[in-house]
Amino acid sequence: MRIEILEGDITTRPVEAIVNAANSSLLGGGGVDGAIHRAAGPDLLEACREIRVTLLPGGLPVGGAVVTPGFKLPSRWVIHTVGPNRHAGETDPALLRSCFRESLRAADSLGAQSIAFPAISAGVYGWEAGEVAKAALEAMDNFAAETPSSPLELVEFVLFSTATADAFRSVFG
Ligand code: APR
Repeated sequence: MRIEILEGDITTRPVEAIVNAANSSLLGGGGVDGAIHRAAGPDLLEACREIRVTLLPGGLPVGGAVVTPGFKLPSRWVIHTVGPNRHAGETDPALLRSCFRESLRAADSLGAQSIAFPAISAGVYGWEAGEVAKAALEAMDNFAAETPSSPLELVEFVLFSTATADAFRSVFG
């Protein structure tokens, strides 16, 4: 599994699945959530509303993941996850590891060969980029060990600033 650390806009990435740092409502927001909904078009919100009515009436729990099509995005799928909100006292890194793990498992079950992550929780939800990178690395290592035959060949971390990218580069080496 190849890992790439890039600076840029995740909505432009030509990978099979991109991960959205959503909130539990799944009904959109700012940051990368807003960017993904804008780029995917209104069908994405429609698909999320459908999930809320059927599969997840109570919303998506922190650390969980759920898949929708990508609609107008270059990526075939969007994997929505909800990161821990430090401002709400959600300070357990296991919750962040769960976001990365559940998203990797979702991509694996789709048979995706490539996935792109943003820096989940490193924006509105107030986590340090270095903490997020550490959780991502631990989740990646555990996933590779538990799923040696995954079709997933490429994992991108697409970061929206040089500072965030540098934090990921220093953790991933
Ligand atoms: N591409 C890649 N990364 C992006 C993009 C983009 N187009 N836009 C923002 N980011 C980065 C931010 O700079 C930050 O480093 O994504 C990271 C996560 O920030 P947020 O989007 O604020 O996500 P998060 O901290 O998990 O907070 C989630 O914010 O937008 C709302 O609905 C969302 O309520 C939820 C909360």
